[in-house]
Amino acid sequence: MDKRVAIITGAAKGIGKAIAERMVKDSYIAILVDVDIESGTNLAKELGNSAQFISCDISDIKAVENLFKSVIDKFGKVDAVVNNAGIIRDNVIWKMPEEDFDKVVDINLKGTWLMCKVAGTLMREQKSGRIVNITSRAWLGNRGQSNYSASKAGVVGLTRVLALELGKYGVLVNAIAPGLINTPLTQKLPQDVQEKLIEAQPTKTMGKPEDIANAVAFLCNEQTQFITGQTIYVDGGKSIGAGL
Ligand SMILES: NC(=O)c1ccc[n+]([C@@H]2O[C@H](COP(=O)([O-])OP(=O)(O)OC[C@H]3O[C@@H](n4cnc5c(N)ncnc54)[C@H](O)[C@@H]3O)[C@@H](O)[C@H]2O)c1
Repeated sequence: MDKRVAIITGAAKGIGKAIAERMVKDSYIAILVDVDIESGTNLAKELGNSAQFISCDISDIKAVENLFKSVIDKFGKVDAVVNNAGIIRDNVIWKMPEEDFDKVVDINLKGTWLMCKVAGTLMREQKSGRIVNITSRAWLGNRGQSNYSASKAGVVGLTRVLALELGKYGVLVNAIAPGLINTPLTQKLPQDVQEKLIEAQPTKTMGKPEDIANAVAFLCNEQTQFITGQTIYVDGGKSIGAGL
């Protein structure tokens, strides 16, 4: 089988959708994974024969194992895994219920870890593979996101460890830290908050989902070698600081 096979989580909308579209354009078989069955199925139909939707909650180990089993049964390999699924439940810590910490960490960190555990085990045996974890610039700190920032900081640490553990098996593991990107997730923010966030950007713009898809395409490209354990910021320069 010539075509490379990529699994993309959270692929039904937003950044994941742009990544799925890009992977199909780059001649991959794209396995679209999401809990939003309707949007995921519709997108797979739109993308045609090179795309397949599989419903899977990444925080459920059995579902993750079944996902990889069905991809291996059908295609015999997995060349790239893009761990993009994630959620927010923002509030200042004195108002944040414990369930909102647990839920965010369960999906963003544990779900990504479960996907990496199954993918890393398989890719170690294959002696090849790429894992790209979508973290966030917010891992550096954002008011009201103690749960989210902690979960995304965990993803940076996870990425660095897997680069060490899997490097000698030909598996490269990197992270992308998006800044403010125009997706259904950020469109839910009140207009005045969106405007303030854009004003705080060195570029004075929001990023597009395609900006993240471009970075994923680069990291998954077979010509891209010798880069592992890195976190690449695609954030319009926000991670640099105030920049007065
Ligand atoms: N949009 C931004 O500005 C921004 C900035 C930094 C980081 N990110 C990160 O990028 C990723 C994508 O963000 P987005 O803005 O496209 O979000 P989004 O809400 O538009 O899409 C996320 C997708 O993940 C799916 N999902 C949620 N929980 C899941 C689970 N348990 N299993 C499988 N799928 C699940 C959702 O159904 C949805 O389709 C997230 O990890 C997010 O934290 C986004």
